Amino acid sequence: MPYVAAIDQGTTSTRCMIFDHSGRVVSVDQKEHEQIFPKAGWVEHDPKEVWSNTREVAAGALAKADLHASDIVAVGITNQRETAVVWDRTTGEPVYNAIVWQDTRTDRICAELEALGGGQERYRAKTGLPLATYFSGPKVRWILDNVEGAREKAEAGDLVFGNMDTWVLWNMTGGVDGGVHATDPTNASRTLLMDLDTLSWDAEIAKDMGIPLSMLPEIRSSSEEYGKVRERGALAGVPIAGILGDQQAATFGQACLSPGEAKNTYGTGNFVLLNTGTEKVLSENGLLTTVCYKIGERDTVYALEGSIAVTGSLVQWLRDNLGMIGSAAEIEEHARSVEDNGGCYFVPAFSGLFAPYWRSDARGAIVGLTRFVNKGHLARAVLEATAFQSREVIEAMNADSGVPLKSLKVDGGMVVNELLMQFQADILGVPVIRPVVAETTALGAAYAAGLAVGFWAGEEDIRQNWAQDKQWDPAMAESTRTEQYQNWKRAVTKTFDWVQ
Ligand code: G3P
Repeated sequence: MPYVAAIDQGTTSTRCMIFDHSGRVVSVDQKEHEQIFPKAGWVEHDPKEVWSNTREVAAGALAKADLHASDIVAVGITNQRETAVVWDRTTGEPVYNAIVWQDTRTDRICAELEALGGGQERYRAKTGLPLATYFSGPKVRWILDNVEGAREKAEAGDLVFGNMDTWVLWNMTGGVDGGVHATDPTNASRTLLMDLDTLSWDAEIAKDMGIPLSMLPEIRSSSEEYGKVRERGALAGVPIAGILGDQQAATFGQACLSPGEAKNTYGTGNFVLLNTGTEKVLSENGLLTTVCYKIGERDTVYALEGSIAVTGSLVQWLRDNLGMIGSAAEIEEHARSVEDNGGCYFVPAFSGLFAPYWRSDARGAIVGLTRFVNKGHLARAVLEATAFQSREVIEAMNADSGVPLKSLKVDGGMVVNELLMQFQADILGVPVIRPVVAETTALGAAYAAGLAVGFWAGEEDIRQNWAQDKQWDPAMAESTRTEQYQNWKRAVTKTFDWVQ
C-alpha cells in the first residue's frame, strides 16, 4: 500500500510522520533540538543539528512501520516559519545559527525601518504584516550586519537565505550538489519581503532592508514537485511535492478549506488562522494577512492570522526554568487541585507581545499575587493565559471579518489538556472542537504533497477524512466570563513599556 510522508520541522523538535490514504497516522519519529539562548531575548537553533535530526527521524519513521522509500509516493515539508538561516551555497555551511521567530534582537532594525516613514505599518499594504521582530527579513539583515564578511559574500552572490523549509529542501535535494533553493508562498509571506498580490519578492523592501535579491529562494506553489530526495537517506528518490508553513499546514489538515473556517493550533505558541478565500483582507485590528495556501496553478487562498508567541512554551518554561513540574502533562493535575486562579494572572510576554498588540517593549508579568496563591493557582494562570490570549485574537478576527466565529477547531500538543479545552470554550463562549487526528500540521503537509502526485484527488478527500473526536461547550456564567477577561486585559497593560 502506498503512503505519504511529512517532515515537520518545528520550534522544539523535528518529526517525520507517515500517513495512509484515509489520513491515519501509520508511523512517527521525533527528535528535539537544542534551544540556544545566548542573551535575554535571543533564541537560536543550530541548522546542522536540525538537518541531521531530519535525516534521523525520516529513517526512524520508516523503520518503525517497516517501510521503505519505494512505499512512499511523496514527501511534504512543513516548518516553524520566520526562523531564518543564511548559508554559503558553495560549502553548505551556515554563516550563523538560525535566528528563531521568537528572537527579539532586531527591535532596533525594525525601529530604523519604521523611521523611514510609515511607522510600524510601513509595509502592511504590500506584505500584510506590521514591522516586527517576528519576521525573517530583519533577521537576515542582522546576520549581514553582524557576521564578519557576510555582507560582502552576500553581495557577491555566495550566500543564500531560507526559512527552515528551504534549508531542509535544499539539503534533501542534494545541497551543494544541485540542491533546489525554493520556498512556497506561505513561508515567503512571513519574511516581510513578499508582495501578497504578485507572490514575488519586493525589490524596494529588500533594498530598504539591505538584502540582495540573489539570496532569496524561488517562490513556487505549496503543492508541486520541487525535486526528488537526492541524498542517500531513507527517503532517497521520493519526490518532495508539498511545502506549507506549519500554521497554514494545520489549517489545511483541519480541512478549513472554505472562507469563514478557522482553526487554533496550541503549540509553542498559538496561531489562529481564518480562511478568507481568494480575497486578501487587510486587518484593522492587529492581525496579519498571510497566504493560506496555493495549490499548483490554482488561485491563491489567503488567511487572517492571530499569532501568539508564548503558550505551550510557558509550560516548558515552568518545567525547565523553574522546575515546578516534572513533565508538561503534570500541569493539569496541579491546575485541578484548585477551583480557580485565586486572582492570579500570568502574561507571558517573553518575546514582547504579538497579535493583537505588536509590542516589542513588553515583558512577562505575574499579577494579582497574594499569600493565598499557591502552585495550583499558578498552574491554572499558566493554562488560562493560553485561552485568554486566544480570545483576544479571535475578538480581533470577529471585528475584521464582521462575522463572529461560531465554533473553534483546535489541534496541537496542548489540546490533550481537558481543563484548558473547557476553559477555552468557557472564556470564548463558543464550542471548541478537537478532530480525531490532532496532528494536523504534518497531515496538512502530507495532503499538499499527496495532491500534487494524485494520491488524493482533491479537497473533497481532505474534507471526508476529517472527523470529530470531542466537543467542549461553554459552561461559564456570562458575568464570570466578562469579569475574568477584564482582569486579564488589565494584567496585559502591566507588561507594557518595560524595555526602554
Ligand atoms: O510562526 C511560528 C510558528 O510557525 C511556530 O510554530 O508549532 O513550531 O510553535 P510551532
